[in-house]
Amino acid sequence: MSNKKIFSSNFKLGILGGGQLGKMLLQDCIRYDIYSKVMDSNKEAPCQGICNEFIVGNLTKYEDVVSFCHDVDVVTVEMENVNTDALEFLEKNGKKVFPSSKILRIIQDKSKQKDFYIQHELPTSNYKNYGNLSAVIKDYDEGKVSLPIVWKSAKFGYDGKGVKIIHSFDELQNLSDVPCLLEEKVKIKKEISVIVARNQSKEEKCFPAVEMEFNDHSNLVEFIMCPANISKELEEKAFDTALKTAKSFNIVGLLAVELFITEDNEILINEVAPRPHNSGHHTIECCLTSQFDQHIRSVLNLPLGNTSLKSPGIMVNLIGENEFEGNVKYENIEKIFEIPGVSVHFYGKKKSRLNRKMGHVTIVHKDINKAKKIGKKVKKLIKVTSE
Ligand SMILES: Nc1ncnc2c1ncn2[C@@H]1O[C@H](COP(=O)(O)OP(=O)(O)O)[C@@H](O)[C@H]1O
Ligand SMILES: [Mg+2]
Repeated sequence: MSNKKIFSSNFKLGILGGGQLGKMLLQDCIRYDIYSKVMDSNKEAPCQGICNEFIVGNLTKYEDVVSFCHDVDVVTVEMENVNTDALEFLEKNGKKVFPSSKILRIIQDKSKQKDFYIQHELPTSNYKNYGNLSAVIKDYDEGKVSLPIVWKSAKFGYDGKGVKIIHSFDELQNLSDVPCLLEEKVKIKKEISVIVARNQSKEEKCFPAVEMEFNDHSNLVEFIMCPANISKELEEKAFDTALKTAKSFNIVGLLAVELFITEDNEILINEVAPRPHNSGHHTIECCLTSQFDQHIRSVLNLPLGNTSLKSPGIMVNLIGENEFEGNVKYENIEKIFEIPGVSVHFYGKKKSRLNRKMGHVTIVHKDINKAKKIGKKVKKLIKVTSE
């Protein structure tokens, strides 16, 4: 790659997935004048219309992925559910694929992810993998399962879909009959995330740790808060764990590491994502280099950017509240524009539906508590519904 021009040239960056993470990657591709080619199954995906080439195709279909990649110089992803056999074939034929098929194969499967942490002596909660529901019930009958316990579908879960806290045998019996794992329910003090970037030259950098603030009533993530309200000592420990994890995977690109801080101040890895992450959106406004800029630098083996904080900030997701899908409508959005330090991001999804991520708002303020106050106001004001 070093002897090939990347900027303002015929170099092509291929991105598998055309959602909001892709859209925000493209904003930096445009800034750097890097030619972009994106594939998504939805012809109206957020990236459509703002990349140089948009291909409608199935990310999980071998032929679609191979054919999409034939003329790109580097392939990356904005979501992990892509056909890894196709990526492996491409790697064997000399294509640069970051993150690699090997990493994606592990991360796509929560059971394999947990096994990986154990093999690499990385801290994680106790768990057991199961091939199907009857194997879970058999263990329960033999007294090997103590409730409450956390059930996770091994594959295809996201945004909390595919995770259930099980309190009774009745709930256990009604679980989907799919490969799954049971995890010890951790006594969580705080949930934090550290995003690490690594390039091929093995340069590596962490973004400041962020904290997920949950709504006491709904138990949904209300804010991402940066910096996390934790001691320097704990943050250093979190950086160590995140860097060790990224190194163990030998990742090139971003690795978002979701961590639990337990009531005993222990740090446990919950899960990882090998791409830009919801917990890093604030970096656009809050850090010298954004996670999207950093991902592009990492996969193109450019020097990594400085991740220092420019300003503390809060990120609020804009989530569809309408039960039935319809054309999106943002209520009270003008009022948000009036508040200093507030940046609004719309993902360009035409249809809103319940719990769909439609956009986000970042609030910067030198006093994080003031930012939080404004965040609460923003949350109360804005309503994402349909016409
Ligand atoms: N072992 C656990 N103990 C307690 N809570 C957990 C555990 N695992 C997950 N959770 C809770 O469930 C949430 C979603 O789990 P996660 O594995 O991150 O799924 P997803 O892929 O949907 O993000 C976590 O953010 C955390 O709040
Ligand atoms: Mg998660």
